Amino acid sequence: MFQNLKEQPADKILALMAQYKADTRDTKIDLGVGVYKNAQGETPVMRAIKAAEQKLWEVETSKSYVALAGDPAFSDAMIELVLGTSVARDLVASVATPGGTGAVRQGFELVKMANPKARVFVSDPTWPNHLSILKYLEMEMVPYRYFDNDTRGVAYEGMLADLDQVAEGDIVLLHGCCHNPTGANLNLTQWQAVIDLLNAKGAVPMIDIAYQGFGDGLEEDAQAVRMVASSCPETIIAASCSKNFGVYRERTGLLMMVSQDGSGRALNQQTLNFLNRQNFSFPPDHGARLVTMVLQDDALRADWKAELEDVRLGMLALREQLAGELQRLSGSDRFGFIAQHRGMFSRLGTSPDKVELLRKEHAIYMVGDSRLNIAGLNAETVPILAKAIVDCGI
Ligand code: LMR
Repeated sequence: MFQNLKEQPADKILALMAQYKADTRDTKIDLGVGVYKNAQGETPVMRAIKAAEQKLWEVETSKSYVALAGDPAFSDAMIELVLGTSVARDLVASVATPGGTGAVRQGFELVKMANPKARVFVSDPTWPNHLSILKYLEMEMVPYRYFDNDTRGVAYEGMLADLDQVAEGDIVLLHGCCHNPTGANLNLTQWQAVIDLLNAKGAVPMIDIAYQGFGDGLEEDAQAVRMVASSCPETIIAASCSKNFGVYRERTGLLMMVSQDGSGRALNQQTLNFLNRQNFSFPPDHGARLVTMVLQDDALRADWKAELEDVRLGMLALREQLAGELQRLSGSDRFGFIAQHRGMFSRLGTSPDKVELLRKEHAIYMVGDSRLNIAGLNAETVPILAKAIVDCGI
């Protein structure tokens, strides 16, 4: 039977990780996978998470199951973090999931259950795994224009024109902040126009928010998702704790369904619980528990926020440095967009050939679509990258 298996397409980002690992050049620079790294190239356990972990070791007396939806305290804490007071708590159904990817996957399955004919509108480009999961689930995808390769900003007019094609019951997948892979984001006026369009058409927004706190700040990065959740009749939200709590391998995420019609909440919750049970039963608890402890304890929360803010400001400083260095070396302002983009990524907007040249000639690794992870840089490697970019004629 196993001989019937066909080779599956390799995930571009994970393939790049392996390629980087195998490279023996000691000058190599990893700007590939979206993992935060400090100036020493390490991905440390955040201080507050470490402190919570120590405390948990002392107080945890059982590893027995918690609940299909995960610990309700985790849901409460995360809903507050993502949605603030924008929607009443009793309008939100939610389940803990294995990471943000788990939430995305369950969210798509939920859509399929609710409307098997739904088309999912996806930004062009989007995180490749969105497309891969949709394909695996045999769901129809429709790309909408998003990135303007000339300005390296959002192709806003094109985006609205493409979203004008949505029909009632379709889903529009949006990145809550820090768009992956481009780093280009809508402003709040533009978000409002998208919301108005979706509401006029009866389409449902699904928001993937994986980088809250990495862009303009913890509250600022949640503004758009709060606007959407409070203005649209129904919203699906997949939130990840991997990056902003640094708990990547613990697989910690939350899937939320917001419905302005509160009478549907029990059914929504039951459906989410059912999906968890079918897919993996109980969600992982360790990371979720640490996140809850951090968010519930004033001192730990303050320390986590301070460390996250340092991470954010560090990435912004690297953006400024890289844009400045490129301006100096190229004598042009054409790289100014790097300082304007937000989050972990920027899309350079160059060809796969040039990306390959950077890898071959300079041992610099970025995703083939020219997405670079800003956090993979430090003050010493920024000038090296800038010189390589100019040398490669980008
Ligand atoms: C990325 O985009 O690099 C991250 O979200 C990690 C991943 O799983 O792809």
